[in-house]
Amino acid sequence: MNASTFTARVIASTGADVVAAVAGAAGAMSGPLHGGAPSLVLDMLDEIGTPARAAACVAEAIAHGRRVMGFGHRVYRAEDPRARCLRDTAEGLGGERVALARAVETAALAQLRVAKPGRALYTNVEFYAAVVLERAGIPRELFTPTFSISRAIGWTAHIVEQVRDNRLIRPSADYIGPSDRTLTP
Ligand SMILES: CC(C)(COP(=O)(O)OP(=O)(O)OC[C@H]1O[C@@H](n2cnc3c(N)ncnc32)[C@H](O)[C@@H]1OP(=O)(O)O)[C@@H](O)C(=O)NCCC(=O)NCCS
Repeated sequence: MNASTFTARVIASTGADVVAAVAGAAGAMSGPLHGGAPSLVLDMLDEIGTPARAAACVAEAIAHGRRVMGFGHRVYRAEDPRARCLRDTAEGLGGERVALARAVETAALAQLRVAKPGRALYTNVEFYAAVVLERAGIPRELFTPTFSISRAIGWTAHIVEQVRDNRLIRPSADYIGPSDRTLTP
């Protein structure tokens, strides 16, 4: 289950109200490893600037251990099917931004394959979503809220399902720290 939906279900399971559960989900969604990625995709494209710089900039990011925004997925080990749809949409719109995105994607896929063998890192939904949302005239600081508005339908459906047959969600955790410590007063 994705992080924001799980967050909504955990909060709903405590008996908190729908507003609390949706607000919590939005908080999880805002993180750059989840729904906060698309505006950072644009920041990255801005920084790269031109297709000619794509390969070198991607190489530098990977060499410094930074995540290339818009690539990889917690579960998918193949191209995100939503990325394919949004790539088609972006290419239909055309323009310099799309050409830059294509160059960055080509460089990122090739270099991630070499740098992280066996990890299967592909383009995710956020990469071309960023390009399409920008073209639609939405300011980048509103990308995540725009996504969240549509996700709120799913979050609330999950909240309703959780509440209908509720039991407090309480994951277990294994303590792996040191044991047998002496406490001195
Ligand atoms: C989505 C994400 C958090 C999944 O993380 P994950 O499940 O830990 O990733 P994986 O298990 O597939 O791969 C982990 C390895 O690949 C690397 N990796 C994963 N995504 C990467 C990326 N986008 N750029 C560079 N390296 C990446 C990690 O650093 C890690 O390397 P290590 O084993 O040498 O430490 C991660 O791919 C990411 O941060 N992507 C960029 C942010 C993004 O686009 N988020 C939107 C997701 S829809």
